Amino acid sequence: MHVSREKPTLIDVRQGRLERPAPQDWKPGAHHSRFTVVGDLTMKGAVFYATKYGSTAEYAEWIGAETGLPVFDVRSDGVDPETYDFLILATPVIYYKLLITDWVQRNLTKLDGKPIVMVTVSGAPPGPKLDAWVGDSLPADFIANAEHVALRGRQVPAELSWFDRAMLIIAAWKNPDPVASDEELNGFDYMDKDSIAPVVALANALKGRTAVKETEAAT
Ligand SMILES: Cc1cc2nc3c(=O)[nH]c(=O)nc-3n(C[C@H](O)[C@H](O)[C@H](O)COP(=O)(O)O)c2cc1C
Repeated sequence: MHVSREKPTLIDVRQGRLERPAPQDWKPGAHHSRFTVVGDLTMKGAVFYATKYGSTAEYAEWIGAETGLPVFDVRSDGVDPETYDFLILATPVIYYKLLITDWVQRNLTKLDGKPIVMVTVSGAPPGPKLDAWVGDSLPADFIANAEHVALRGRQVPAELSWFDRAMLIIAAWKNPDPVASDEELNGFDYMDKDSIAPVVALANALKGRTAVKETEAAT
């Protein structure tokens, strides 16, 4: 049985769902197996970010400069993610949750089917603790479809609001991990431009891909 989809879906070549001939040989308007090539042969991407104290904005601007992708603040720029074929979503972890969570929840339908690179910026290093916070912030399907790159940010006690400063002093006092406790109390700066390399590689690979829409789904 063949099932028609109401909404065209961008297919991620990564998932190996495209069939021969090779996408670079496809022509706009042509049909290949169950896919139709959309007019523009390369995928259009953008960096969308959330930030509280600016370090994620800095990473987003670095990624934009290295990839040539436009960069938007999800809180102030009001750009529709539907306009883009793939997205780099950059977000800090604040109080064990991704700051971009509410925006993603509001735009879940629009993001469905698009290749996503999720860039987290945190005090904690990559590992099970960070994975658990990501898992608690976003739907499992969304995470499964995204590539996650974990970067480490910056926290400067003198820049914090009095509320955040007080919360971090309490968190430091309660934290059994001596390194994390010291970072919560005294701040840290792990900002590293070179650490964006995996994000740039993923973005460049996606840029080279062919935009297609699925016209029929095989059974
Ligand atoms: C109020 C506050 C809460 C934070 N909570 C966490 C946390 O739960 N886990 C973590 O790994 N880092 C945490 N951090 C560290 C931030 O993820 C890090 O400082 C990040 O670079 C902030 O990004 P921004 O400058 O874009 O806001 C917290 C920082 C602040 C200021």
